Parts: sequence; C-alpha cells; structure tokens
Amino acid sequence: MPQTDPRWPLIRLTQQAEDAHGDRARLTELLRRREDRQALNEKLLEPGQSWMLWATALSTLLPPLDVADFGCGTGVLSVELARWAKKVVAIDRAASSLEQARARAEKAGATNITFLEADLHKLPLPAAKKDLVVISQSLHHVAEPAAVLREAARLLKPDGRIVVLELMPHREKWVVEQLGHLHSGFEPAVLERELSEAGFKNVVFTPYAREGASPFRVFLLTGAKK
Ligand SMILES: C[S@@+](CC[C@H](N)C(=O)[O-])C[C@H]1O[C@@H](n2cnc3c(N)ncnc32)[C@H](O)[C@@H]1O
Repeated sequence: MPQTDPRWPLIRLTQQAEDAHGDRARLTELLRRREDRQALNEKLLEPGQSWMLWATALSTLLPPLDVADFGCGTGVLSVELARWAKKVVAIDRAASSLEQARARAEKAGATNITFLEADLHKLPLPAAKKDLVVISQSLHHVAEPAAVLREAARLLKPDGRIVVLELMPHREKWVVEQLGHLHSGFEPAVLERELSEAGFKNVVFTPYAREGASPFRVFLLTGAKK
C-alpha cells in the first residue's frame, strides 16, 4: 500500500495501540543493554575470559628485573611490579602516599619493595644499576619532565628499559587546581623527542582509546637506554 494512501494514519494508530504498554520501547532498551554488555565482556574478559589473568601469566615470563617506580603514589603499580620483579624501589615525594604504599605492600606480602621519599628531579641513587624505570602518570606533576627523564636514563644500565604512561593533551582546568597537575597532558611527539634527548633509543608510542565519557586519554611510550 503506498504511503500516500489515506488509510495509513489508521494503520499507524493500530500499530501504536499494540505497544500501549511500551513493550516495544522496553525491548529496544533491553537489546541495547545486551549489546553494551557483550561489548564490555569482550573488552574486559576476552581472550580466555580474562585480560588480567593473561597479563599476570605473561609477567611470569619476564626476567627478574631491578625496577624503579617513579612517583609511586599509593603503590598500586609498585605492588604489581613486585610480583615478578627481583626488587622494586618505590619513589615519591609525598610521605603520606608512601605510608599507604607501605601498608599496601605489607598486606600483599610483598617483601621486595623498598620505599624512598625523594624528588624525582634529583635522586639519591647510584647510576647504571636499574633494568627498568616506570613513570606512570607522574610526569604531568613534575616541574621539569625532561630533567626527570634524564634522571631515569642516569639510573638505568645500558639497554635498560623505560615505560612512560601519560595523558594526551586535554582542557580540564580543574585537575590543575584540585589535583596539582603542572602539565595538561603531553603531545606524544614532544615526549618522544625529550626521551631521545635524554638518551633513549627505540622509542615506541602506543595510543589508547578514550574510556567511556572520560575527557582523558592515556598513551604509553617505551624505550631503551642508548
Ligand atoms: C598521579 S600519582 C601517580 C601514581 C602512580 N604512579 C599511578 O600510576 O597510579 C603522581 C605521583 O607523583 C608524585 N610526584 C609528583 N611530583 C614528584 C616529584 N617531583 N618527586 C617525587 N614524586 C613526585 C606525587 O606525589 C604522586 O604521588
């Protein structure tokens, strides 16, 4: 029947009357939620039902490294690193964060972490002893990121590795006032250049997609000391 047929309004009314209780709308919503759940499952659980389990399994294949965690905060990452590292030095300038990190390590039974209250720009640690330096979301808090990268290079053995996790440039002013960020994220190319100038080679950039409605996007840079 052509859409211009005068009986169409009546047919539409009948169709709407069939959904007087909103069943069709509920069905549409149910299917949307089911799709969301499937997408979430794929993201969090596959492969083999758990990305987390795979990450843990792969970490057991790593050699026992001597690691420095720059700006460890409350130590979540330090404790994860300590599961497979030979030893970890968890460094932060905030005594209160280090206290929480200590408590976390104790609860997890991690005995291979030492804690150091110090400024990342100039660390009281010897040169060329570390296998890995991890800097996760700390560079945007420091006055001179390039100086901190140079300090990381100083601590590393030749061919020692660095992993930097940072925020892409953003416009969220509240993090400056409320969280004390000194940098509103970084252009990856700028940090890549600073890594190279600090003495790192084979720098690899890995972007990560935006999480839900978050205004922040993170990225990873890895490299090796020249
Ligand atoms: C956002 S937290 C990162 C915590 C942890 N690395 C993570 O990824 O969850 C940043 C930490 O860097 C520390 N920090 C900032 N500037 C520092 C500096 N110049 N020297 C030492 N620690 C610093 C802060 O005290 C804070 O605990």
